This record gives sequence, C-alpha cells and structure tokens, in this order.
Amino acid sequence: MENGHLLRFRDIHDADWKNTGHLTPIEGMGEVPFAIQRVYYITGVSGEASRGYHAHKTLEQILICLHGSVRVRLQTAQFEKEYLLDDPFTGLYVGQMAWHEMYDFQNEAVLLVLASEHYDEADYIRDIQAFLKLLEEAGE
Ligand code: TYD
Repeated sequence: MENGHLLRFRDIHDADWKNTGHLTPIEGMGEVPFAIQRVYYITGVSGEASRGYHAHKTLEQILICLHGSVRVRLQTAQFEKEYLLDDPFTGLYVGQMAWHEMYDFQNEAVLLVLASEHYDEADYIRDIQAFLKLLEEAGE
C-alpha cells in the first residue's frame, strides 16, 4: 500500500442508526494490509499542540480519528501533503519513510493508531535532516 492511501471502513448500522449508531470492524490482513501487533491512541491534545515529527524505517501504521478532527502532514520521497481526518470510517496509511506531523487537534480528538509491529525506538528517524538525507541517498 502506498503512503497516504486513504482506506474506507465499513459503517454497519440499521434503519434506526440515529439511535443505535455505527459499528466499524477492522481486521488485520483484512481491512488493513498487515497483521496488527499494536494499538495505541492519542487523546487530550490541545489545538495548539502538535505531535509526530518522525518517520519509521519499517513500521506500517493506520491512523483513524475516532472523534473530533486532526490534520496530518505527510512527507515522502514522492510527495508532501496535508490530510484532514474527521470521521471514524477513514484510515490514513503511513508506512515506511513517511515523515508525519499531527496538529490542529479539534473537538477533543481521539486518534487511534493500528501498527504492524511492537514499539521499537530503533525504528524511528526523529531528525528531519537525517530523514531527508536518507531519502536523497535512496534516490541515487
Ligand atoms: P512518539 O511515537 O514519539 O509519539 P508522538 O509522535 O505522537 O509524539 O511516542 C511518545 C512517547 O511514547 C515516546 O517516549 C515513546 C512512547 N511510546 C511507547 O512507549 N509505546 C508506543 O507504542 C508509542 C507509540 C510510544
């Protein structure tokens, strides 16, 4: 799957959905293209704060805004783009070598992340200059 790909998840509901709501199932190797090894979520971020500022060497992740909204900036060797995640039926694929920044958290945003591996600090690239250098070297 390409970095920046937007996945659309199922919205299971009945005729009385305004009362009974929505159910969205996500299975590893099903709706998402990897076996889910880790789940984490980010809550309580103010509208002024931002997070991320790193890329991963191998990790694959899907970002889903379950409540509220958040903007995500992605930078890869191919593109630089901003996404608005504001519904629980959309997932943003962030795979290897995608610098990501999350900001403009609104309305008590809840950001769910599905990840392909357990946490490993050694998989992070936290220095933008080092990231850009790696992109440059890969492009040679
Ligand atoms: P980090 O991935 O840098 O968060 P963000 O990019 O949203 O700012 O993680 C923040 C801290 O949490 C860092 O000390 C590592 C720790 N952490 C874990 O222990 N396990 C995890 O699964 C994640 C994602 C982070």
